[in-house]
Amino acid sequence: NNDTISSEKKMTQVCELLQESIGYYDWVGFYFANHDTKTLHLKAFAGEPTDHTEIPFGKGICGQVAESNANFVVPDVKAQDNYIACSIYVKAEIVVPLFKDGKNIGQIDIDSNTVDPFSEADERFLEWVNERIAEIL
Ligand code: SME
Repeated sequence: NNDTISSEKKMTQVCELLQESIGYYDWVGFYFANHDTKTLHLKAFAGEPTDHTEIPFGKGICGQVAESNANFVVPDVKAQDNYIACSIYVKAEIVVPLFKDGKNIGQIDIDSNTVDPFSEADERFLEWVNERIAEIL
């Protein structure tokens, strides 16, 4: 419906703003969960297009957060076994779940080409971003 289209446009604008204004945010995207098929679906992003527009729960950093409901900060992606590579340049990743009415409905995913760039300030900031997104959904 029209509400879905406009919230996806807003999320794309948020992705673009974050990716352009924070130097170590090289790729920014929002995945949303289909709890029936247990898959994540890419709804908005900024940065290079990715082949990974659909991710099963449990697979990769994103799929693990779909099940854990917890932030996942990866300082060095090379040290992760359960990781889906999107670009050879990516060194680090942060995924923060997005809750609506207490339910984990999706996540913000950020890739960085810098090693170990993410701090607790990024976690608090991205939790705040997700709360604002939840309000428009
Ligand atoms: N690296 C993610 C996959 C999504 S791409 O970063 C855009 C993962 O391991 O889940």
